[in-house]
Order: sequence, then C-alpha cells, then structure tokens
Amino acid sequence: RLPDPFTSTLPIPPVLKPSKSDEDGDHYEITQRSARAHILPGPSTPIWGYNGIFPGPTIHARRGRPVLIHQRNQLRVPTVVHLHGGRTPPESDGYPTDYVLPTGGWPASDLHHPGRVHHGSFTYEYPLDQRAATLWYHDHRMDFTGPSVWRGLAGFFLIGDGVEDELPLPRGDRDIPLMIVDRSFAKDSAMHYPSVDPSLRHTPGVTDDFMSGVLGDCILVNGAAWPTLNVSNTRYRFRFLNASNARRYKLALDPKPDDGPSFVQVGSGQGLLRSPHELDAIDIAQAERFDVIVDFSAYKVGQSITLRNEHGSGNTGLVMRFTVTESANDTTRIPAKLSDLEPVPDTNIAAHRTFVFARGGAKADDRVLWTVNGKKFDPARIDARVRRGTTEKWTIRAQNVPHPFHIHEDGFQIVTSNNNSDRPGPYDAGLKDVVNLDNGATGELLIHFSGYPGKYVFHCHNLEHEDMMMMANFEIRD
Ligand code: C2O
Ligand code: CU
Repeated sequence: RLPDPFTSTLPIPPVLKPSKSDEDGDHYEITQRSARAHILPGPSTPIWGYNGIFPGPTIHARRGRPVLIHQRNQLRVPTVVHLHGGRTPPESDGYPTDYVLPTGGWPASDLHHPGRVHHGSFTYEYPLDQRAATLWYHDHRMDFTGPSVWRGLAGFFLIGDGVEDELPLPRGDRDIPLMIVDRSFAKDSAMHYPSVDPSLRHTPGVTDDFMSGVLGDCILVNGAAWPTLNVSNTRYRFRFLNASNARRYKLALDPKPDDGPSFVQVGSGQGLLRSPHELDAIDIAQAERFDVIVDFSAYKVGQSITLRNEHGSGNTGLVMRFTVTESANDTTRIPAKLSDLEPVPDTNIAAHRTFVFARGGAKADDRVLWTVNGKKFDPARIDARVRRGTTEKWTIRAQNVPHPFHIHEDGFQIVTSNNNSDRPGPYDAGLKDVVNLDNGATGELLIHFSGYPGKYVFHCHNLEHEDMMMMANFEIRD
C-alpha cells in the first residue's frame, strides 16, 4: 500500500563529517551495507545504503581540497563507486570492472568481466580541481548498476568554491538537495526490480518487458514518498537531481507564481551558469542536476505549492509539496552575473566523432542488447583516443527510445540537441555531463578534454541500457 501524498516530511540527508583532516585532504569512512528504511506505512523496506541510509550521507567538499573516501563493502555483491561529474584520476573514477569485493568474499568464477579487484575496501581519492557543482556518487558495477542504485546506493557530493561563496544566493538550511527517484514495491514492502538473475551474479539486465528501463509508481524525494517541505516566504536554492534508473520528469510548480518565473536556474551539472536563466518547468533526464532558485515570496503564508511532474499522470504526476508556513526576512538576491563561465570555443576542433545509441547489432544469449555504434561494451576496446588539452565535437544519435548520454571526466557544451536547429534549448544551458536525446534526435557536443590521462567510459544513463551494454571507452592521452 502506497502512502497518501504529502503526508511525510522531506528528509535531508545528513552531512558526513570527515574522520580526519590533514595535509592530504579530508578523509571519510563509508560502509556499504544493507539496512531497513521506513518508506511505506506497512513493514520496513530492505535497502542497500552508503552507511546504511538512502540517500547516502552528503559530502561537502571544497575546490582544490582533496577528499579521500574509504569505502568498505559489507554487501553480498561487488560494488564500484563513481563520483558522477567528478574530474577524477582513473584509479578512483569507478571504472565498471574496478571491483570492491564484499568483505565476506566473492568467488572468482562469479566475476564474468575480469578487472582490478580490491578485497573488502578501497580508498577513492578525489583531487577536486574543479568548479563548485552539485555532484552525486553512485554504484557503477559492471552489468549490475541498475539493481544496485535501485536498492539505494546513491548520495550527494557538493563542491563549493570561492566564486560561489561571494554570491548572495540562499545558503544553509535554504540550500536543499533534492534527490528524485521512482520505485515500485512488492506486497512485503521490498523494492521490486525485475532482474533476469535476481542473485545479481551471472546474467545482467532485465526481463524483456523492461527493455526501455525500469519505472516505479511511487515517487521518492530524499527517500520519502511524495514528501512536504515547510518553507518561509523567501528564496530557496534547490539542487534537483534525477537519480531514477529510467524515468524523466518535467518539474513544474502548481500554482505557478502570478508573475515571474517558477524557477531561476543558477547552475547545471558542471556548476554555476554565467548568468541566471528563467524556467517555467524543468525537463530533467536521468542523472541530470538543475540548481535553481524558487522565490516563495510570490505566495501567501499558509499556501501549499505542489511540485508536479508534467511527464507523469496519477501517482507519477506528483513529486512533492511546499507549504509556506511563515514569513521571514530575505537578504538574498540573484545577481545578473554568477560566474566567469565561457562557452567552449568551437574553433580548433581536433576531431569530429559520431556515436549511434541504438538497440541491436549485438546479442547475448539470444537477447537483444543496447549498443553504441552497433557494438556492445568491451572493457578491452578503446572507442575514442583523445588528446589532453584539445576540443572535440561529438555527434550523438539516439534511436528506438530516448537515451540520456553521459560522459565521465569532462563536461560538455551543447551545440544542438534534439534535431532543432534553434537549440541549444531551455535545458541545455551551461556546462553539462548528461544530455537527454529523444528517439531520432541528434546532439552535437563540444568537449574540451582536460581530465587526467587514462581510460574512462561514456554511456547511456538509462541504467538498464547501461547494464545491457550501451557503454563505450575513451582514453585521454598526453
Ligand atoms: Cu552517473 Cu557512468 O555514471
Ligand atoms: Cu539508453
């Protein structure tokens, strides 16, 4: 039984404290373990959580100050941690076959793709030489990312810097991360995920009915079903993250403010925009982040505002509710200039490449897979060799269904997307690391490669497609 919407309070994931801070950086300890969460009115729900909670604890980091996270795996399956949006050396980026095996052990015969193996724990090192941005960390295990994230392995990782500090934007308890996911539940309150192989040992992927991705009928924000947040009649900064496996949302306020925009976007996945960008709705694909200001002074004290999903209907058309419960003083404002972000120059393009994201072209056990340029993912094959310090133009074509394209290590600027020559469109502003491409659409991206030398992946962030091989490798070389 699903709870009535807006009956629970929005949880805010706790901020994790470093276990120590020294000249190497801030050190953290996280244990990946199973736990139970109270999501539904009935029995509690088994989850997998970083420190046993979903979402995992939030990490607050600063530009240029390294973070070292000792991740211990007490689950029953191997894990891989990826800092999504991070510029990270390859050893710590969470390459899908860089396994952290369970502390309880794991038979070598059950590692179908060989890779680097860490026994029980691994310390991921993040130099964080990058702009202030809303990042997140999540599981990235080869073949089984979808079911692991579905069970709860996801958390926020926020980077701050001096540029952001200078801005008069809302902060503290008026700066709130919102992780939106959809889930479905079995009768016993367990999260229901249609794995081909529920042991998550041998065969990846989901049953044929779910080839477009696994959707749920219950919307959770920060782990609570359709929660409510009490606000004052002031500006708030919301960091929206769509951490769903396969669902896209179109977020809109109901009622909309009488005058003025519903949302003023100040940041995208890779940090602050150059200048604020007004939006009446936010079309957010899987893994995307939108950093926005909502001004509740447009509403009366006592009023409730529903955050709707205009792509959904019924249960999935509702996300959460804001209730204005008090009036308060507001000294914040949205400056006309947010950062020095410059567009990626489109001169001196070192290479043009095209990648087609489509169904088919390769098969496993007679099941059709999702592929990039007709090939299934192979950790041993490099699909693009790029030179560090150069800019490339990548053309991505999406076929059969929409595919949210994501690349590790370096962000991109959208030149065109979804086949419209008048793009970039309303959701393409700033530097991003995910772009949704509708079925039949073509996206042109400018990528300036400045990350660490090494091998990384790019893939579809529909997690079921990723698990069914829609992933490829690029290598950054000096
Ligand atoms: Cu958010 Cu390669 O993933
Ligand atoms: Cu896809």
